[in-house]
Amino acid sequence: MSLTETEIKESIIDTYTKVASNGRLVAERFYSPEELQGLPTSAVELALGVGNPARHAALQRGEVVLDLGSGAGIDTLQTARKVGPTGKAIGLDMTPEMIRRARANANAMGMTKVEIIDGPMEAIPLPDASVDVVISNGVINLTMRKSQVFREIHRVLKLGGRFCVADMLVNGELPEDVLNHPTAWTG
Ligand SMILES: C[S@@+](CC[C@H](N)C(=O)[O-])C[C@H]1O[C@@H](n2cnc3c(N)ncnc32)[C@H](O)[C@@H]1O
Repeated sequence: MSLTETEIKESIIDTYTKVASNGRLVAERFYSPEELQGLPTSAVELALGVGNPARHAALQRGEVVLDLGSGAGIDTLQTARKVGPTGKAIGLDMTPEMIRRARANANAMGMTKVEIIDGPMEAIPLPDASVDVVISNGVINLTMRKSQVFREIHRVLKLGGRFCVADMLVNGELPEDVLNHPTAWTG
């Protein structure tokens, strides 16, 4: 029997509410010491991504950047440093515990141009054409509705906006038991 979208979302929220720190394992794999400098320990030790999209997005001062599935905020915070006080970094997540952590991490850094918003990436709670760049790190693989997420990214981006994503791809067919296993859907 196939899992429903609601069951998968509940499982994802449960997983990311309980997720434990991985030490600096992920952070040191994908970020330079300079990039990690000054970030709160809780953002560094809860880095759960698969790359470093903020490094490759050619971010400019003054830009508005949306980080889809911001987790504890490692990329949102880096983005905020790059776009500076005239720009804005918006993190979006649907797990209340991750939202709480990211907000606490932004406050700990005294970042005023960071906003962490609550919502699903399949229905981004932002107006059309309101962001310059969308980044995402290890998140789009978690949705059953990838085309809808790409439609939403296109909708919120300004004309000429950019999208820079790090994620996992499946090359080929997944077996039924993997497709229907909650753990396989939660990353
Ligand atoms: C693997 S973690 C990556 C977190 C962060 N990008 C990083 O690199 O550390 C996935 C995050 O995406 C969030 N997430 C998963 N599915 C989501 C969805 N449909 N809408 C919004 N957030 C989602 C989870 O709550 C979790 O915080």
